[in-house]
Amino acid sequence: MRTQVGIIGAGPAGLLLSHLLHLRGIESVVLESRTRDEIESTIRAGVLEQGTMDLLSESGVGERMKAEGALHHGFELAFEGKRRRIDLTGLTGHSITVYAQHEVIKDLVAARIAAGGALLFGVSDTSVHGIDTDTPSIRYHYNGEACELQCDFVIGCDGSQGVSRAAIPQDLRDDYERVYPFGWFGILCEGPPSSEELIYARHDRGFALVSTRSQNVQRMYFQCDPKDSVENWSDDRIWAEMHARVDSADGQQVVEGKIFKKNIVGMRSFVSTKMQHGRLFLAGDAAHIVPPTGAKGLNLAVADVRVLTDALRAFYVENRRDLLDRYSETALKRIWRAEHFSYWMTRMMHRLDDASPFERKLQVAELEHVTTSRTAAMAMAENYVGVAPV
Ligand code: PHB
Repeated sequence: MRTQVGIIGAGPAGLLLSHLLHLRGIESVVLESRTRDEIESTIRAGVLEQGTMDLLSESGVGERMKAEGALHHGFELAFEGKRRRIDLTGLTGHSITVYAQHEVIKDLVAARIAAGGALLFGVSDTSVHGIDTDTPSIRYHYNGEACELQCDFVIGCDGSQGVSRAAIPQDLRDDYERVYPFGWFGILCEGPPSSEELIYARHDRGFALVSTRSQNVQRMYFQCDPKDSVENWSDDRIWAEMHARVDSADGQQVVEGKIFKKNIVGMRSFVSTKMQHGRLFLAGDAAHIVPPTGAKGLNLAVADVRVLTDALRAFYVENRRDLLDRYSETALKRIWRAEHFSYWMTRMMHRLDDASPFERKLQVAELEHVTTSRTAAMAMAENYVGVAPV
């Protein structure tokens, strides 16, 4: 089989890239190791920046997001028994939409299938070849058969554990990483929202986040030991922890509901500053990871894809290579901004085991500052909605 662009991974990056290339008349094939059902049901984060919403809408896949996602104009920071609002729209003119990542995936899969796009699920033994030549290829197994996809470019959108990044020789790679000694315990529960907006809470017991999925399903998280097990947490223990960390002194309380899903995620910051090698390009989690605190993961993947789409269009339509050559450099500016913001917010909001009482006081002083200084609030809001200058 032959195509112009071979894409490994049907996450948001791979699917959106395939869709945007199709709109520009460029052919691609997407290879995914999981089943369609798996990728459409994996629970991930759910905050879309304005730029992400605009790109999905402009490219014809924003209908359900607009109808079912919730537009939020601010969020709350809870600390020391108080709640203070960050007025995203008032400060930046932009807003965010809360719409689960797997819903974005469903919309993109539907669009690719409706357009007759080549999207193969359940492929195995994927490997990348010839990226130093002008005729790279991807080998894989599909329905028990050994196959080869020949292409002009290979795009690795296969996440942090995928084969793509590993195809760049180790001695050429330049990776940066920070692993945090804590994780997030996430729950999904039935019931009404606890608040109209997201609540990010800092407490001496640890961080907590109140998010939402719909009027009837809520998503919440609290900081935990990443090696803890969901079996250790009864529903009662979870609610006691959420109340302790989020309820405010003036009586605003987290609304309890029937918990139907529990999971624990680790937290890590990671950047591969080599996002391309020869005819191989990496996008999304294959090249970088952020802790979920700043809600940037999906948005960064979308931003990479926007840069890559323009570069591939310039190559095919204008016979220009310069945008492709500069892909890493261009994408990394936004990536490092988001890395810093996610790290900053993580450090301000979490119980840091090595933090002295002095540093805990500094966290509170910083929260006081970002919620009282318009300049500091604006910097936070610009980063959160994704319009901070880089
Ligand atoms: C979510 O709703 O899953 C969510 C929201 C905000 C975050 C992270 C996750 O910062």
